[in-house]
Amino acid sequence: MRRAERQVKGNAVKGETLFKNMCAGCHSFASNKSGPSLDKIFNRPMLGAKGFNYSAAMISANMRLQKTEDNYWNKTNIMAFLANPVAFSGSNHFVVGEHQKRNDLAKFLKDKSRGVYLFGGNY
Ligand code: HEC
Repeated sequence: MRRAERQVKGNAVKGETLFKNMCAGCHSFASNKSGPSLDKIFNRPMLGAKGFNYSAAMISANMRLQKTEDNYWNKTNIMAFLANPVAFSGSNHFVVGEHQKRNDLAKFLKDKSRGVYLFGGNY
């Protein structure tokens, strides 16, 4: 089951719709809102949005993860963070319960970070 789940690929167009519905109330790609800016989030270090006041839990998760450089956002840790933010980082973050939705969101965020996703705005 787990291996099969990992093979499910994300769809950036669906991911953008999910982003608008689930994330854009708190996140933009242009500036900080109640959540940090997600501009170029892939390969960006955790706590990378300048001027954003991160939680103590997130700061301590970053200190732990940066020892192995796992504090750079990639598909694996974005998926883990969205699936179970408390387990991943201690943060009381919004949860995305469905694996396929996380995949679609991750694909959208990745393409958006690389500038290969040409639709949509900066929310
Ligand atoms: C209710 C507001 C809210 C919603 C909804 C929300 N977030 Fe967040 N997000 C935050 C806050 C606040 C933080 C900082 C967490 C902390 O400091 O503990 C954060 C942090 C993050 C980070 C880490 C950023 C960094 O700079 O290290 C990512 C990635 C992220 N959110 C993605 C998402 C995605 C994708 C969604 C939609 C599925 C989403 N968030 C929905 C408020 C929100």
